[in-house]
Amino acid sequence: MERPNYTQDYDKVLRSLYRAIIFLSSFAVVLALGLIYYGLMGNPFAPKQSPPVVDTQQKQPVSRSAAAADERIEDGIHLATGLRVADGFEVVRANCTGCHSGKLIAQNRATRDGWQEMIRWMQRTQGLWELGGNEDTILNYLAANYAPQEIGRRASLDVEAIEWYILEE
Ligand code: HEC
Repeated sequence: MERPNYTQDYDKVLRSLYRAIIFLSSFAVVLALGLIYYGLMGNPFAPKQSPPVVDTQQKQPVSRSAAAADERIEDGIHLATGLRVADGFEVVRANCTGCHSGKLIAQNRATRDGWQEMIRWMQRTQGLWELGGNEDTILNYLAANYAPQEIGRRASLDVEAIEWYILEE
């Protein structure tokens, strides 16, 4: 019987081991390339999304984006802003609807002084800009259209105006 040639066998084993290592490392290379692609380009299998729309018009004193918005007016109310269309409307719209909806304004009732207080508060704490010559126009508009006596929201209690009655004993 032939004696086993251990050197040859050893060579064979070594060669198949190399083959296995090369075979496996080709997977590793493909995987690594995939990860690099993923890292650089993002998930290629993700559904295509349009980039988020950035509203660059926000917080700007004069809003021109409104031109593209809904301009319908119903019962004197400008639908997009919720504000009543009256003298000064455009000035109010330009200065007062950048940070919050006009509906927040329409929900409120105040005297001219009260409105001025709110404006001062926003100027002190919320970054509202100086309104300059527009302040008068804005206050006139607010005082005329969102005055306390209007129905909608109850005015603050006016003690003088309450008709007190005496409880019977
Ligand atoms: C720079 C940003 C900014 C602008 C411009 C701005 N406001 Fe405001 N306003 C705010 C913030 C912030 C609040 C608080 C919002 C909240 O409470 O959700 C607020 C709140 C209000 C409120 C609610 C107050 C309350 O007591 O609930 C009214 C009314 C109002 N603003 C009216 C106006 C008017 C009128 C103008 C235009 C002269 C205006 N805002 C412009 C930032 C702004």
